[in-house]
Amino acid sequence: MSHPRVEAVAGEARAAIDRAASSAELEGIRVKYLGRSGDLTQILKSLGALSPEERPQVGAAANEAKRELEALLDARLEATRAAERRRQRERERPDLTLPGRRPARGVVHPLSRVRDEIVTIFTGLGFSVAEGPEIETDAYNFEALNIPRDHPARDMQDTFYLSPETLLRTHTSPVQIRAMRLQKPPVRIICPGVVYRRDADITHSPMFHQVEGLAVDRDVTMADLKGTLDLFAREMFGPRSKIRFRPSFFPFTEPSAEVDVVCFLCAGAGCRVCTQSGWLEILGSGMVHPQVLKNVGYDPEEVTGWAFGMGVERIAMLKYGVDDIRLFFENDLRFLSQFA
Ligand code: FA5
Ligand code: MG
Repeated sequence: MSHPRVEAVAGEARAAIDRAASSAELEGIRVKYLGRSGDLTQILKSLGALSPEERPQVGAAANEAKRELEALLDARLEATRAAERRRQRERERPDLTLPGRRPARGVVHPLSRVRDEIVTIFTGLGFSVAEGPEIETDAYNFEALNIPRDHPARDMQDTFYLSPETLLRTHTSPVQIRAMRLQKPPVRIICPGVVYRRDADITHSPMFHQVEGLAVDRDVTMADLKGTLDLFAREMFGPRSKIRFRPSFFPFTEPSAEVDVVCFLCAGAGCRVCTQSGWLEILGSGMVHPQVLKNVGYDPEEVTGWAFGMGVERIAMLKYGVDDIRLFFENDLRFLSQFA
């Protein structure tokens, strides 16, 4: 059953479907012949204008052609789309021969490195690691260390108070008190930790790190302290490094000494890093004051002890030749990656 008017349109459509090379083209053909104002649709819409004899013939032929073209389009579309998907997969196939992307490798922060090195040196000498809180009481940070409220030594450490009784610890020395209250002599501990002071310039940071050391036993002397710190300096800075002990004052040690290392930048000549002195202070130390031993329930007639508190940043500056303490806290990868 066919009709010349329908066959003219259908023939043209079949030929177009045959030639079509893409699914987009096929969609265009569907619109051109079967769409709302498509050629075949027009024929179906204008059936009413035909004579009663012609109407059923043209109608049946047009409906049959419509079904045929739809089936043809569907079949060709399915095949074309499958081929297109295949080509796209081909294009997007990963090239396994390309070099891989390497994950960026981080480095241990120089301060962590130096702290770990300090801890390793002292644990090698038989010290064990102790810790204490960063939020401390006035009693532990000052009073038990022989620094009463009106003592001028409080000015040495400008303190961040959280309340009249609590503060950010200004040094790691309160861990000495905590450790001694927990155990009987002999004591041999080191305490790495973060401390805080209102203090800021190229060698002072408001947040910095200390490592406290404490040894208490019968017959412990200042000579033991000197020998231990001498050995520490040689391990940390090399066998030819030069340190000096300088008399000093701390309310919780008697006698007291500060230890300086020859300035890395000027080798002793004097510069801005060492404030023209040629030396850089790395720690405070001394023989534990008898009053402090009494405060923790030890008998100063029976045992003696020494203690020190060293600045991790200062040691890192000396070891690596860093001329501004703030570089450690800026997290600039160009600086940090030099310590890989
Ligand atoms: C003390 O803090 C004493 N607790 C040390 C001590 C412990 C003495 C045990 C006796 C017995 P001092 O305030 O000097 O002392 O600080 C010790 C070290 O911390 C200094 O030598 C320095 O290396 C470092 N330091 C001090 N202030 C800063 C700061 N603002 N930034 C970086 N490092 C600092
Ligand atoms: Mg000092």
